[in-house]
Amino acid sequence: MTNLTIRRLDEALKHRLRLRAAQNGRSMEKEVRCLLAAGLSEDGPGPMLGPVAKPASPAGAAAAQAGALAGRRVLLIIGGGIAAYKGLDLIRRVRERGAEMRVILTYGAQQFVTPLAAGALAGERAYTDLFDQTTEFDVGHIRLARDTDLVAVAPATANLMAKMAAGLADDLASTVLLATDKPVLIAPAMNPQMWAHPATRRNLARLTADGVRVIGPNAGEMAERGEAGVGRMAEPGEIAGALERLLGAGMPHPLKGQRMIVTSGPTHEPIDPVRYIANRSSGKQGHAIAEAAARAGADVTLVSGPVAIADPPGVRVIKVESARAMLAAVEAALPADVGVFAAAVADWRVAEAGEQKIKKGTGSAPQLALVENPDILATVARHPTKRPRLVIGFAAETEHVIAHARAKLAAKGCDWILANDVSPRTGVMGGDANSVHLVSEGGVESWPRQPKAAVAQSLVERIAQALGPRQ
Ligand SMILES: Cc1cc2nc3c(=O)[nH]c(=O)nc-3n(C[C@H](O)[C@H](O)[C@H](O)COP(=O)(O)O)c2cc1C
Repeated sequence: MTNLTIRRLDEALKHRLRLRAAQNGRSMEKEVRCLLAAGLSEDGPGPMLGPVAKPASPAGAAAAQAGALAGRRVLLIIGGGIAAYKGLDLIRRVRERGAEMRVILTYGAQQFVTPLAAGALAGERAYTDLFDQTTEFDVGHIRLARDTDLVAVAPATANLMAKMAAGLADDLASTVLLATDKPVLIAPAMNPQMWAHPATRRNLARLTADGVRVIGPNAGEMAERGEAGVGRMAEPGEIAGALERLLGAGMPHPLKGQRMIVTSGPTHEPIDPVRYIANRSSGKQGHAIAEAAARAGADVTLVSGPVAIADPPGVRVIKVESARAMLAAVEAALPADVGVFAAAVADWRVAEAGEQKIKKGTGSAPQLALVENPDILATVARHPTKRPRLVIGFAAETEHVIAHARAKLAAKGCDWILANDVSPRTGVMGGDANSVHLVSEGGVESWPRQPKAAVAQSLVERIAQALGPRQ
């Protein structure tokens, strides 16, 4: 039936369907089924890659009103692609929403659009040169990188993506991208062959792992005659919508004014200067909670063990190694309104870690005596003077998940336990999805398996409900 449907389509529609299927990595038949099932419009934009969600149409449209970005600052870097002219339109659309804008043009971008046009639209001169004395004394590349709420790169050329992935800093744009501590959103645009090249795939994977947000590219006709495929820059309206979501424009801030401590990741307990005891925690769940809480307006301190993921934007991050260092950092961050203890803290440490590397060849393997680590959750939950109003622990279990969580709730004196099954078959440890049970005195709520970011968002909503409006 689907085959028949596709054969009957006219050539232009078939072409668009082929592009859309290629973009989504599906067969044409599967793409038709998805379209029918979701009732999506064929003209809808392709899915965004990376952690930025697709624009939610009604809410997105509402948020796109003038003034949605009032008081926010956006630094736009325009790269040297044929879509640079759309970068000019993006300036207009972001300013329409009330944001202040600064614009940097790469040397390549200046071959397509002029600094004069970009500056006229931005309402401030456009920046082009790292070694320009006036710029350096006036604003300076570090202030350009920091005096903003977000850095957008549109179009992001293959070259700029490669430079960002490699950490190069050989012109104003790449230096600012390396120096910024703000969220970065890129809108790639390039020829489909360049987009599909293994080098660009590698760079994209590196950038998303570094926490860079990506919108597009979309499928469609390229500016070069006769070329089509995936590589067209997302439309300026789509990019402006993604900026609004990233900056939380128009979103309620139910945790505004609340101080929150979140712990995340594993701890490393030294055996000697080169060896340690660790666990498989990735930090993805704890970091997602910190990010969601910051988006909801909380003042968040994230105490993180050693992880290989990017710091969440808008969060104060304190990096530690051992359980004892984590406890000290948490105590230093008190008082707080809410504590979420998602870190997988090692239960034990080696009683006497070697000061020098323990050598083999002594005839017998070393006998490591273990002692218990401090219990961070219980310490905070029973704190005599600085107990947060809401103390939430995590229970990582491999069996009897709910029974163990109930026992932990009682033993630790916390308010809620989020229990999850971390048996290898669940793929929770290190994976991107989680299924948790919220255990409290009131009972047990089992949430469906969902991405860790969605678990974080649900938890933040529950926290906001529990705290009620700030007094
Ligand atoms: C007419 C023309 C169009 C181009 N379009 C693109 C493009 O859409 N995407 C891209 O990645 N590179 C494109 N390039 C190549 C870039 O301009 C080139 O890689 C340049 O070094 C990019 O510099 P930048 O990344 O510093 O802006 C194009 C080049 C020319 C001559």
